[in-house]
Amino acid sequence: MSEGSIVLGALAPHPPHLIYAENPPQNEPRAECGWEVLRWGYERLRRSLADKSFDVLVVFSPHWQTMVGTHFLGVPHFKSISVDPIFPNLFRFHYELDVDVTLSEAICEQAAQMGMVTKMMRNPDFRVDYGTIISCHLTHPAWDKPIVAISSHRSAKLFNTEYMQANALKLGEATRKAVLASGKRAVLLASNSLSHRHFVTEPPLPEDMSKEHITHHGQYLWDMRMLDLMRKGKTRELIDLMPDFTDQTIAETDSGALSWLIAALDYPEYGADVHAYGSVIGTGNAVVGWDHESYGGRS
Ligand SMILES: [Fe+2]
Repeated sequence: MSEGSIVLGALAPHPPHLIYAENPPQNEPRAECGWEVLRWGYERLRRSLADKSFDVLVVFSPHWQTMVGTHFLGVPHFKSISVDPIFPNLFRFHYELDVDVTLSEAICEQAAQMGMVTKMMRNPDFRVDYGTIISCHLTHPAWDKPIVAISSHRSAKLFNTEYMQANALKLGEATRKAVLASGKRAVLLASNSLSHRHFVTEPPLPEDMSKEHITHHGQYLWDMRMLDLMRKGKTRELIDLMPDFTDQTIAETDSGALSWLIAALDYPEYGADVHAYGSVIGTGNAVVGWDHESYGGRS
């Protein structure tokens, strides 16, 4: 078996608003428009993937929250409806997806060998979380590739952000090792926003863009700092700053998703492509691609 590879890594945030505004046939609510800059960013991410072959999408989602260790989907096929608990008016999505159970088990086993608490999720009636579904849909709407979905152990809340990050980095290393050993070509998705302070009321028309802006300037400055480090390939510094950034902007990086991705990519020193930055109900969101196969070399 030839060695596997990580084809591309992406920061692929999951505001349900982006699906709502996109109007895919799977989603029940209809929108006029909205959040175009972020949606065009996803379009550019999809274009950057168009000429690459890959076997599987591996996604780490903040909204599959497990209190004891890290869990992995372990059922080959899921079909159901996903409803966002906060925005049921925007996201009622009929999904059907395949899981690469073999690769899921391999990452689960590799992480366990490295000392992590892991578990395969074997419940066929499990409802796949909306973070996983939205990031996968916006990155590859054809749904013709299997996925591996990884839960977020909520250790930033249960312990602290440093502890969370130490585990996420180990999980990233385990993911890389398992992908390389699998012989498969994987696309990795960190499904999270950056700064995450948000408004607590919604305008009467959700897609009224005259109401959309970042919650406050300090949050914007932090997001720009983090994106600048990504663009310059300074990912070690990014990891060093992650706990402070996470605590001060209540960032969704508290899930460990972005730290996991950076470690899985082996701390890239080449510049990432920031396809878009924009706010959704005041939160900071960026669509960012690491063209790992073209620039990354080693994995
Ligand atoms: Fe979220």
